[in-house]
Amino acid sequence: METRIAEIASGIYRLSTFVPQIAPPAGFTFNQFLVLGDEPLLFHAGLRRMFPLVREAVARLVPPERLRWIGFGHYEADESGAVNEWLAMAPHAEAAHGHTGCLVSLNDMADRTPRMLADGEVIDLGAGRRLRWIDTPHIPHGWDAGVLFEEASGTLLCGDLFTQIGDGPALTEADVVGPAIAAEDLFGFSSLNPGMGATIRRLAALSPRTLALMHGPSFAGDGAAALRALADDYDRRFQAAMN
Ligand SMILES: [Fe+2]
Ligand SMILES: [Fe+2]
Repeated sequence: METRIAEIASGIYRLSTFVPQIAPPAGFTFNQFLVLGDEPLLFHAGLRRMFPLVREAVARLVPPERLRWIGFGHYEADESGAVNEWLAMAPHAEAAHGHTGCLVSLNDMADRTPRMLADGEVIDLGAGRRLRWIDTPHIPHGWDAGVLFEEASGTLLCGDLFTQIGDGPALTEADVVGPAIAAEDLFGFSSLNPGMGATIRRLAALSPRTLALMHGPSFAGDGAAALRALADDYDRRFQAAMN
């Protein structure tokens, strides 16, 4: 296994590890995003067992001990598994997560007290980099779920939203909604609930220009349209499940 690096928006790097054994023959990617700034932030701590690979990839961009923030969309092995490895390596690093996730998991599981982010709260990385935390409870799964929006580049670090199988390019302008619908059919990873459409449309209101998928390529284009189409599909699924 190797971890490949690509800049998917100005100062935002995708670190991608492809695992052919998951969902064969297509395989599956695990991506982290490094946002540069005076206080560099890594979105997704990654799996504990992938930590050496991801650390080596980070080290090609910044000294890993300089990392200041470790964020993730929800508490789960591929999102947060290596959080304590990062905290041990980077003496000034703090985990940053939403209120729910800190209260139900991270205050106990993280080796240092995490920064608790309110819905809409901004992490200022300096150098013009501001990341806004947005609560998306249970979407696509996890009570503590949320996303980060990088305002300068219009990049939505959207975690498991738009998950797709396969090993595509680092950045694509191709459709990401169809592959996400196919992956939902395959895995059933989302927690269908009546708030899904409204919550995902709230993200569309940010009009992101880049969608940074945790599992799949990053998407450059009309992020709002993609989010609305995804919201429509989840509304359709929810209605179908209720009938
Ligand atoms: Fe997840
Ligand atoms: Fe994930």
